[in-house]
Amino acid sequence: MSGSWSTIPASLRSVSVRISVVTIFPGYFDSPLRWGITGRAIAEGHLEVVPVDLRRWGKGRHRQVDDAPFGGGPGMVLMVEPIYEALEHVDPRPPGGAHRVLLSAAGDVLTQSHLDRWARLDHLVVVCGRYEGVDERVAEHLVDEEVSLGDFVLAGGEPVALCIVEGVSRLLPGVVGNPESIGRESFREGLVEEPQYTRPAEFRGWRVPDVLLSGDHGRIAEWRNQQRLLRTARRRRGR
Ligand SMILES: C[S@@+](CC[C@H](N)C(=O)[O-])C[C@H]1O[C@@H](n2cnc3c(N)ncnc32)[C@H](O)[C@@H]1O
Repeated sequence: MSGSWSTIPASLRSVSVRISVVTIFPGYFDSPLRWGITGRAIAEGHLEVVPVDLRRWGKGRHRQVDDAPFGGGPGMVLMVEPIYEALEHVDPRPPGGAHRVLLSAAGDVLTQSHLDRWARLDHLVVVCGRYEGVDERVAEHLVDEEVSLGDFVLAGGEPVALCIVEGVSRLLPGVVGNPESIGRESFREGLVEEPQYTRPAEFRGWRVPDVLLSGDHGRIAEWRNQQRLLRTARRRRGR
């Protein structure tokens, strides 16, 4: 997305957060970063996203970044050395001091509180795995956290990196038009959001709850609160 910078006056280039994404598919990020809130956050200079091609540090003529697992087993594992070198390049430690995250199905499950924390950083580095995964020494020695999008297995970390970019971008000051909408949404105070409706008040006999049409702001606030509690109890039982 560096192309978008050329359209922004230098005086407005006050990036709040840079997210570097180490990946074997840097082109994966071309289109999604142009759209919606993320596209705007980048175009307005709140956010910079830098896909970093892991193959630059690949070995040999074929720029190899993976090898067979020790001990046998199917598939290939991303090697520690190219990832070490890529991380040294984007975030030399010290004094770089970026926060490094490895994406892994076996990591801690990603929540809003991760995003809240990361939106306050200067530089977040996200490492995407592929194939059978990543040499464990990356998790042990090279990153600060290992996170998962949920208890399912994707083919690579790139879709997860996009989720992180979008989740962080909408938290940056000045990106979402009405900051109140962020304060009210799901997972603030540990609750999911109440149901929302808009016009028409009735469609094919499906009516909006009367209380929302009553104009009584006290009753509406009370109803919304009850709905948040009820839905959280039903949908997030045991969490
Ligand atoms: C095919 S997966 C490897 C799955 C691994 N063999 C396992 O059983 O957990 C390849 C890469 O996709 C990414 N990935 C897959 N599922 C993920 C998830 N739920 N959350 C975060 N990253 C995921 C990780 O970076 C992972 O290294």
